[in-house]
Amino acid sequence: MALLISPSILSADLGNLERDLRACEAGGADSIHVDVMDGRFVPNITFGPVMVETCRAITALPLDVHLMIVEPERHLEAFARAGADALTVHYETCPHIHRTLQSIRELGMKAGISFNPGTPLDPLRYLGDVVDQVLIMTVNPGFGGQRYIPVSELKIKDCAALLAEEGSEALIQIDGGVEAANIARNYQAGARSFIAGTAVFRHAGGIAAGIQALRAAVAD
Ligand code: DX5
Ligand code: ZN
Repeated sequence: MALLISPSILSADLGNLERDLRACEAGGADSIHVDVMDGRFVPNITFGPVMVETCRAITALPLDVHLMIVEPERHLEAFARAGADALTVHYETCPHIHRTLQSIRELGMKAGISFNPGTPLDPLRYLGDVVDQVLIMTVNPGFGGQRYIPVSELKIKDCAALLAEEGSEALIQIDGGVEAANIARNYQAGARSFIAGTAVFRHAGGIAAGIQALRAAVAD
């Protein structure tokens, strides 16, 4: 399966968002990752549906929206209307996760579930029929530029095994501290979609070079 790179605009230059999104397109990004934070589930506050709408107006790339908010079920429709292609909610925020994932699909988006580093993957065993993508947090969510947590590799392997057992084709994504130095081993563990902020937007050679460096590190 292909290797997918999804730049996180949390690290983009928001004053030059259009320029940065064009550079993502030119660099071969597969989607754009939008981090929505509410200052409650995570300490930081970032964007809402307006940002998704803004990106939608600029680029045709799929918009992969990561909701780090409490009660995400209250906002699914707003993100669908804004133009999200995939919507990921955190397992920790959803007492009715099966229903929430179903609702996301009913709104015409891909349904994603995310797990914090300390959260076990067991619920996945019962959610295979409603999940399109699994986002494994490889840092504690809230900020860009944090260091990758090494034990995540084991979690990715566990996730791949669990999904295979269930006969699920869900995509495994990882998010947090992804860089050229660790991407290959995460790919080998079973991750196929890589979300990266710092490694793309702060790459010395520019955004397109950052994306290409990640790809090259897996090909090597
Ligand atoms: C962290 C966010 C990530 C973040 C990744 O809470 O979910 O998407 O932007 O940034 P880097 O790649 O810098 O760790
Ligand atoms: Zn994210």
